[in-house]
Amino acid sequence: MGTMRRRPARLASYCAACTVLAFVATLAASDRDAAPAPSVHPQRWPKLPPALAPDAQLEGRIEALLARMTSEQKVGQLIQADIGSITPGDLRHYPLGSILNGGNSSPRDDKLAAPSEWLALADRFYEASIGAPGSATIPALWGTDAVHGHNNIPGATIFPHNIALGAAHDPQLVRRIGEITALEVRITGLDWAFSPTVAVARDARWGRTYESYSEDPQLVREYAAAMVMGLQGAPGTPQFLDAAHVLATPKHFLGDGGTGGKDRGDNLASESELRELDSLGYQAAIAAGAQTVMASFSSWHGVKMHGNRALLTDVLKGRMGFDGILLGDWNGHEQVPGCTPGSCAAAVNAGLDILMAPDGWRELFASTRAQAREGLISAARLDDAVRRVLRVKLRARLDSEGRPSSRPFAGRYELLGSAAHRAVARQAVRESLVLLKNRDHLLPLSPRARVLVAGDAADSIARQSGGWTIDWQGTEPNQDFPHGETIFAGIARCVTAAGGRATLSPMGEFHARPDVAIVVFGEHPYAEYEGDVATLEYSPGDAHDLALLRRLRAQHVPVVAVFLSGRPLWVNRELNAADSFVVAWLPGPEGGGVADVLFATPAGAVRYDFRGRLSFSWPASPRSPAVDHQKGEAPLFSLGYGLGYRDDGDLRRLPES
Ligand code: BGC
Ligand code: BGC
Repeated sequence: MGTMRRRPARLASYCAACTVLAFVATLAASDRDAAPAPSVHPQRWPKLPPALAPDAQLEGRIEALLARMTSEQKVGQLIQADIGSITPGDLRHYPLGSILNGGNSSPRDDKLAAPSEWLALADRFYEASIGAPGSATIPALWGTDAVHGHNNIPGATIFPHNIALGAAHDPQLVRRIGEITALEVRITGLDWAFSPTVAVARDARWGRTYESYSEDPQLVREYAAAMVMGLQGAPGTPQFLDAAHVLATPKHFLGDGGTGGKDRGDNLASESELRELDSLGYQAAIAAGAQTVMASFSSWHGVKMHGNRALLTDVLKGRMGFDGILLGDWNGHEQVPGCTPGSCAAAVNAGLDILMAPDGWRELFASTRAQAREGLISAARLDDAVRRVLRVKLRARLDSEGRPSSRPFAGRYELLGSAAHRAVARQAVRESLVLLKNRDHLLPLSPRARVLVAGDAADSIARQSGGWTIDWQGTEPNQDFPHGETIFAGIARCVTAAGGRATLSPMGEFHARPDVAIVVFGEHPYAEYEGDVATLEYSPGDAHDLALLRRLRAQHVPVVAVFLSGRPLWVNRELNAADSFVVAWLPGPEGGGVADVLFATPAGAVRYDFRGRLSFSWPASPRSPAVDHQKGEAPLFSLGYGLGYRDDGDLRRLPES
């Protein structure tokens, strides 16, 4: 990614991935004219070699287990329930193969449950799942949305969201983040991370844009491999799926990033666009050994992905050689025609190996048993799905690892959110900040200055962290982040140590005029469809941040804007109103990383330069989904844009309407 770091000569004049994108656009255009119908041609997809060497001994063990399983035990492997709706007691009677905690589920339904409660619950589910001695059932897996660290656990290390990591252009860092996340998941006894999202988001109105690393499929490809290796360990090494690693899940297959800004929407791309853009992350993740893949809620030309046999089975399992578990999303099967949350042979027949049935698992278990009995699901398909589940479980050594609390890193709470892990999160914050404007070299600031910190997001870890943080939508108060630091707190620490003064006033009020104001503002947390928006205008109809920026400037206070956002947004007015403008994305609880970059040493030397460069193009108008590189108007700032301290940071006045 070396070239991505180079500073563009002029705005919107440089785009590292343009050649690829132009090529893809040509392909897409020709394909579109030729074949509007959504037929899939598996033979046109690259045939990938197996990621793991064939293992006859492993396959023999799978067959031996399979031969001893009852049909009830087999069907159980296909169903995943949410801990909000299943108890360990239930698991003794229903031999389900896996469980998850959804974004709002936690032990005792208490999102602040201690890590030790997660581990104790993991033990109880484990014990319930192994059944009677000599039984052919092998332990249940527990999956969790560890999408930016082990983010459901108070006190765990929480990293910036993927969009920020994209701006860092640092695959080594991403791999390290994967390793830390895996270790922290293991501390609480869980086995499986529903991560990474490898969507190539191309319309920032989509509420999941922040889960996407980039609109550039090459960067997504590189990061997908790095994150999978970090979470699982490298295939073919003793570290692969050892006690310090967990299963990874590239998601959501396929085309979730191309639905015109609508979550769970319809992707109208051509087959070649799916292949050249959307599938690159999966190709890389599978080559890196990814053991599970999650299907997408979205459709392709009106066909729900959970029912798309050609893409799920012929392409993913056939051409890409994926031999692990294809998992459905949260009741995703219910959207397939003819299905309900409690019944869906069609999704199994399309190729799903596990249906995520958070609350409908009991009914689904009964209906799937009946469908298997009646031949609506063939014995061959059932056995294939079970083999895949067993293959992953055996590769993960679930049969010999023992109860969760007996495993090497379990209960090592001193490592959960340890200083060393949080230092990596803070490094990620520093590396992901993107500087869009720096008039007259206002930044870096002197830590000896009198600094006014304003804006309603300046002292809020929830605002820094976004969705998928402690709970689904991410709404926790500061005190629920035992190690967290707000951006204000980080500034105060830095400035106080150097003899300056930092004052917090969300409304920007002051008695004595400060030397500088830092205004922290931006989006409020959201997840999934809750975050879909109609236009890219920042905060339409609510201009209080803008008023604050303008008022401070009118009072002759130099203004640094720090913008928190899960996507690039049209902020021309705010850019005009600020002297310096920093995009901080959703940095997470290590707010100190912002001050690290904004402030010089007391002697005036740069401590950390800005290294972040846009991994999404920045819109020139509120109406243009600028990340849609194939159709959109020219962006204001292109992919790869970002200033450093040596650059001339003046920005011409931008149009405001
Ligand atoms: C999301 C997935 C997530 C799952 C489990 C779904 O709504 O789309 O990304 O892994 O829930 O929480
Ligand atoms: C769950 C999430 C899930 C979402 C889907 C929420 O209630 O907590 O995990 O992704 O529902 O709608």
